[in-house]
Amino acid sequence: MNLQGSKILVLGASGGIGSAVAYELAKAGAALTLVGRQRESLKRLAKTLEQEVASVNILTGDLVADAPGVAQAAIRAATGIDMLINCAGMQVFGFSNDEQPQDTARLFATNVIGPIQLTNALLPHMLERRQGRIVHVGSIFGSIGFPCFASYSASKFALRGYSEALRRELVGTGVSVHYVAPRYTRTSFNQDAVARMAVALKMAQDDPADVAGQVLAAISSDRADTYLGWPEKLFVRLNALLPRLVDQSLMKQVAQMRPFARLNANRQTP
Ligand SMILES: NC(=O)c1ccc[n+]([C@@H]2O[C@H](COP(=O)([O-])OP(=O)(O)OC[C@H]3O[C@@H](n4cnc5c(N)ncnc54)[C@H](OP(=O)(O)O)[C@@H]3O)[C@@H](O)[C@H]2O)c1
Repeated sequence: MNLQGSKILVLGASGGIGSAVAYELAKAGAALTLVGRQRESLKRLAKTLEQEVASVNILTGDLVADAPGVAQAAIRAATGIDMLINCAGMQVFGFSNDEQPQDTARLFATNVIGPIQLTNALLPHMLERRQGRIVHVGSIFGSIGFPCFASYSASKFALRGYSEALRRELVGTGVSVHYVAPRYTRTSFNQDAVARMAVALKMAQDDPADVAGQVLAAISSDRADTYLGWPEKLFVRLNALLPRLVDQSLMKQVAQMRPFARLNANRQTP
């Protein structure tokens, strides 16, 4: 797919995966509108991308406070949006009985409600032009309920369900929906306890640049769902077909996860 001149809205652009995606899009000649809450990080990123001769708008916006407002501001700033790439998100890790109600609420507001409200607000604009692409970045944990990430898994299950339903609803309209599910990726998204646990559990780790490459490959090949990593892809299938098998392997693993979840028990989510 030729992205030259495509008007692309990148949510979570200041993050590890979002900034790597923005960089790949800039190299492909896209016209970018970058959104996040931290203006300074967006400005730094925009400066780097402009070296790729990219056209870049930056927009400070909060998905939780006003997702439809972000959509409208982006359409105005770029005079149209051809594609949304949503890389915004947050994580809550630990025992479910330690999770604070406000953290659960913010997690769902950031990972589910904000992205849905933003997408729904962009749709009339895309439907009117009979073209558009929606790309949501989910997680492997959005297909495999992972212990000590119960609410996070649930939020990504929800985002995957929304993406699947919306894709079916929009058939024949010219607007397509894609879902890309990374595995563990080296960004500051993973809190210290999670990073240490990943090493102890020998979890495979990807670099954000590789994930960004896969996001662009999913767009170019028009693939509906993309799961990153091997054997993660296989586990996603196995969990759907034979969940009891996956239960056994994860229930063994949970004993190794406990000390790291305990480390996080009294941590305040920023
Ligand atoms: N890293 C991993 O291991 C991993 C694995 C699987 C899936 N994922 C998924 O990949 C996506 C990107 O992850 P990442 O590693 O790049 O995370 P990250 O580095 O922590 O970046 C998260 C991004 O989300 C934005 N964001 C958070 N809350 C927001 C809000 N209320 N309004 C607007 N923007 C908000 C942040 O921007 P501001 O702070 O500037 O607002 C930041 O740009 C997430 O959806 C995550 O669930 C990550």
